[in-house]
Amino acid sequence: MTTYITTPIYYVNAEPHLGHAYTTIVADTYSRFRRLCGEDVRFQTGTDEHGDKIAEAAAREQVSPPEYVDRISALYKKSWPLFDIAPDTFIRTTDAVHIQTVQRVLQQVYDQGDIYFGEYSGLYCKGCERFLTEKELVGGNCPDHQRPPEQITEQNYFFRMSRYQQALIDHIHAHADFISPERYRNEVLSSLSEPLEDLCISRPTARLTWGIPLPFDSRFVTYVWFDALINYLTGIGYPDGPSFAKYWGAAEHVIAKDILKPHAIYWPTMLLAMGLPLYQRLHVHGFWNVGDVKMSKSIGNVVRPGALAAEYGVDTVRYFLLREMSFGLDASFTPTAIVTRNNSDLANDLGNLFSRSLAMLEKYSSGLVPAPGIALDIDKALTRTALQMLSGYHEEMARFQFHRALQGVWELISHANKYIVGTEPWTLAKDPAQEARLSAVLYNLVECLRLLTLVLRPVMPRTSARMAAGLGLEDDDPRISNFPQGARWGLSRAGTKLHKTESLFPRVETPVQGQVAVTPGGADCARQAAPAQGKKKVKGTDAEVGVIDFAQFQQVDLRVAEVVAAERIVKSDRLLKLTVKAPEERTIVAGIAQYYTPEEMVGRLLLIVANLEPVELMGVQSEGMVLAASTVVDGKKRLVLTTVSAEVAAGSKVA
Ligand code: MSP
Repeated sequence: MTTYITTPIYYVNAEPHLGHAYTTIVADTYSRFRRLCGEDVRFQTGTDEHGDKIAEAAAREQVSPPEYVDRISALYKKSWPLFDIAPDTFIRTTDAVHIQTVQRVLQQVYDQGDIYFGEYSGLYCKGCERFLTEKELVGGNCPDHQRPPEQITEQNYFFRMSRYQQALIDHIHAHADFISPERYRNEVLSSLSEPLEDLCISRPTARLTWGIPLPFDSRFVTYVWFDALINYLTGIGYPDGPSFAKYWGAAEHVIAKDILKPHAIYWPTMLLAMGLPLYQRLHVHGFWNVGDVKMSKSIGNVVRPGALAAEYGVDTVRYFLLREMSFGLDASFTPTAIVTRNNSDLANDLGNLFSRSLAMLEKYSSGLVPAPGIALDIDKALTRTALQMLSGYHEEMARFQFHRALQGVWELISHANKYIVGTEPWTLAKDPAQEARLSAVLYNLVECLRLLTLVLRPVMPRTSARMAAGLGLEDDDPRISNFPQGARWGLSRAGTKLHKTESLFPRVETPVQGQVAVTPGGADCARQAAPAQGKKKVKGTDAEVGVIDFAQFQQVDLRVAEVVAAERIVKSDRLLKLTVKAPEERTIVAGIAQYYTPEEMVGRLLLIVANLEPVELMGVQSEGMVLAASTVVDGKKRLVLTTVSAEVAAGSKVA
């Protein structure tokens, strides 16, 4: 099986930022995922270097276009290794081979009569480098560039796009996953419900010289989109190269919603005109905003990849971007959001599981993988979660639903952390009669860590490599480098030597919430120092409790929990045993029996502290605490439970 995955080729009129990094990290992660599945993968990115915008940017810098594009293209090329992004091809539209390919395609389409000469009058947006239709305007402005397009009339060459409209509609209907997520497929189908106009594919040299000359009329250069889209063919050696034959049939493009129309309409119709098969899938994601604000140079809130990687570390950034954005929807970047993910998902959940488990293996098993034992119910439940995670992971990664794949992975991490609490290896270690049981528990933890190493490899290659080293596994061991082979339970071998590793993710100081510091000119992202800690009294707080900083507050995992069952605890008139979903089921013993009956508890949404150390109360293990306000009614104490003001999913985080 082969995969050919591409990013857009980025315009060199701006330096790389968070948005470009996201798309490229997505494509890199997907290429690593497909390699993990044993496929032959080609991953391509590059730069788009012709057209009005680039010529103008060069003029602003008072350098020639070639000098200018060399400089900015190199910035893109240099940025990607900062994130462990490893493309196989970096294509530039100024490469001689690309120019040849574009001219060849133009000549072919012209010869077969799909390009004609005509006059066109239309609304041209320089920012988009294309003519807009009246319908696309919002209040007379281009919606992306917030300025009115210019009315231009000129003689030009046109591609008979309209001729392929029906064939494209039929193709989209016949291939459900041609464009995804579905909202973008629907958007394309809806714009195809109107007649397509032919596409103007030339610019007179009187207006623009920085482009690829038309092979059949040297008074014109090629429209930048017709030039740029062909990069996807040039990069794999169209038309005769062996790579073209091998990869084209497996092409998948990743883009954001801003360039849907060129990719979903221009490009497939061009391919139909060339007589080539269409690409397999177009994956369309939303936009990253900074806080709630669109990222823009003029606002000065552009987040630069270099600053991000240096500040938070490569894997934290990769994980954050993939986990935080629901693929297809917009997402919001804030320093607080990334630090929270680092401290809670990475340092607390994954990092702690790894270091606790390895420390126990060192202490109770001489740093060796112990023998697996007989599986009890608690072990079987863990294995089930692991196997469920593996199948969900494969499905979601293949569908570009990275955030869901990672959610599933974190369910296993959280289950494994609870498994440690539930099995208490430290207690087993005190009883020589429990030696076999202790081995089994520790073996199961090693298996969880190995499976996590396998599935995190495409997302966080460095972390996965460090975990593999800790588990005593070579980087190319199929149990952590090959999905079908490694995605089974029980492959760890007793006797394997484990190695101590440094903590995977150090905690990072939390910035003042929501703050994005912006450096003038450079506009990089930075964090603010956390507020000073201390015991000073703040309005409305107890002096003894003192002031906590935001990082301390964030250590408290507050969640919405739904009560699914409730019963009295025999021999106690104060305690109720609650079974809640948050989102996994857990038991909480709450001292509310004098104020609430079990019957009135079921179905309620409560606020709980989800990460309190479990305690045993009247023989029942309590895993969390219900939050309630204490008040006095008619001279009597009363507890009033806290809740949320509208229905939300059980397990929702409260912050
Ligand atoms: N040169 C064209 C693409 C030609 S492809 C044949 C172009 N270049 S661009 O530099 O403007 O890049 C647009 C792409 O950058 C988006 O489609 C997306 O992949 C990425 N992003 C730019 N800003 C972004 C956000 N704010 N958020 C997410 N991705 C964004 O269009």
